Amino acid sequence: ATNEILKGKKVLVTAGPTREKLDPVRFFSNHSTGKMGYALAEAARDFGADVVLISGPTSLPSPAGVQTIRVESAQDMYENVMNHFHDSDIVIKTAAVADYRPKYVADNKIKKQQEDYTVVLERTVDILQTLGKQKTHQFLVGFAAETNDVERYAKDKLARKNADMIVANNVVQEGAGFGTDTNIVTLFKRDGTEKQLPLLPKSEVAKEILREVHHEIEGRL
Ligand code: PMT
Repeated sequence: ATNEILKGKKVLVTAGPTREKLDPVRFFSNHSTGKMGYALAEAARDFGADVVLISGPTSLPSPAGVQTIRVESAQDMYENVMNHFHDSDIVIKTAAVADYRPKYVADNKIKKQQEDYTVVLERTVDILQTLGKQKTHQFLVGFAAETNDVERYAKDKLARKNADMIVANNVVQEGAGFGTDTNIVTLFKRDGTEKQLPLLPKSEVAKEILREVHHEIEGRL
């Protein structure tokens, strides 16, 4: 079909939150529902790509025609992404990966006490940054979820993580970010240009991102 602009391309998408265990009954996580990442996986499939979706825990069904791998922690996500990275042409890191995890995971449920309880957190691996260092031919798209200074942080992530594009959303804007069916994003590119999109359904945001990626890849040939 004529809209199969990504035919023959292998696209790796990550979506959803991660869960970082504290004990057998508790974890740290965030508000990501997976909607944005699943929309990207479905749009890439509809554009003719072979899609692998690596998803943290969500309540969304696995999209038809997409190889979906369910993971839990940042470490699980990292390992599965690395297994598929070398084969991929386009990698889109939509997942809201935890930056920290409990340093000590209790084998048994932690019992409550009278005193305050302090949890020590340690850094998780930065998957996007690792990919930025290792990439060869892959087109690498990162997201930036910000609450302030969106442009500055997005441009910083583009450079520091060696991404080819950053999709920035201001997650405190009405209709944007976590949980909503819509998003408001700006695409920041390596050549210093940016493209601001209006409020759109996540399915449409996904198509716009992929059209832009396609345009950039074509420009490389
Ligand atoms: O899932 P929804 O409810 O639809 O919500 C969508 C969304 C708000 C989660 C999505 O639009 C979004 O912004 N995703 C990125 C969330 C995020 O973790 O942003 P960040 O600015 O903290 O991270 C920057 C980039 O680094 C992201 O591409 C992230 O996947 C990546 N990262 C972060 C930490 C880490 N340890 N490894 C990573 O690869």
